[in-house]
Amino acid sequence: MSPPESPANATQVMPFDEASIACAAELVLAGQPVAVPTETVYGLAADATNAAAVARIYAAKGRPGFNPLIVHVADLAAAEMLGVFDREAQALAETHWPGPLTIVVPARADNGIAALVTAGLGTIALRVPAHPAMQALLKLTRRPLAAPSANASGRISPTRAAHVLASLDGKIRLVIDGGATTNGIESTIIAATGGGLRLLRRGPIEIDAMLASGAIEAPGMMASHYAPSKPLRLDATEVRHGEYLIGFGAIAGDASLSDSGNLIEAATRLFDLLHLADAATHPKIAIAPIPDHGIGAAIRDRLERAAAPRT
Ligand code: TXA
Ligand code: MG
Repeated sequence: MSPPESPANATQVMPFDEASIACAAELVLAGQPVAVPTETVYGLAADATNAAAVARIYAAKGRPGFNPLIVHVADLAAAEMLGVFDREAQALAETHWPGPLTIVVPARADNGIAALVTAGLGTIALRVPAHPAMQALLKLTRRPLAAPSANASGRISPTRAAHVLASLDGKIRLVIDGGATTNGIESTIIAATGGGLRLLRRGPIEIDAMLASGAIEAPGMMASHYAPSKPLRLDATEVRHGEYLIGFGAIAGDASLSDSGNLIEAATRLFDLLHLADAATHPKIAIAPIPDHGIGAAIRDRLERAAAPRT
């Protein structure tokens, strides 16, 4: 089956199955980025060895600078062709792959990855995703796939096909619809680039235990914002005039991240409810307090960025 014949300004949405993955693979091999679900968020995937294809990711997202991208591969063996894993990095990979963990390692010089992917850094961010759609695309294309979150630059990350369309409709050819993602926030990123591990981004894999044991040096920062188009107030215990309140636990709100106060459930619903609140008629958004432990720390991290004043 060939990729959908569609004008440049139309985005096709196809349910995840063998036929849609075949279309996606054909597009990827032709240098086009396609949106595919992963277990974290939807990714905008392109052939990481094709500079023009990678440039189309940046163009579709409207990314201002060239942030380095995560390269997705089918397994650890494929990852080791692209980067150098020391014993700590290998142990991490063996424990958490396939899954929502990205490991930054020194890049192999002759790995064939387009320089645009790593933004000229000597390191490369690698991830083995667990989602069957992304895995199927990796197997069919037999290419490493560069994939940032499938949203326009600075917008909320997509956990459903509709979220992808909300900011990329007309900018990409195909969205594979695999339903809502299971983790709901982007992968944990850990750097293993020279003695010890460093946490670069909090995520679904909880590294608090490693932090406590001193195995991770220092939390790093992520530059991007997850900005709704409206002001966002955190730690709201009551709703104020004009606010759409996102609840948690005892605070019900207009919609709740988790009635029972379950942080895992809250993580999976976070971007969903931010999209919902953004689309509501209320001019402002407020969100109930989220505890700062476990995956709650990763949730708070994203909320603080979303609430930060735009620069
Ligand atoms: O869950 C995820 O990680 C999703 C799915 C699609 O896999 N992807 C994702 O990609 O969140 P993106 O582009 O939105 O975030 C990638 C992050 C950026 O903050 C980038 O700076 C960092 O990874 N990164 C990429 N390569 C790096 C490198 N060599 N060194 C340090 N940070 C790197
Ligand atoms: Mg992103």
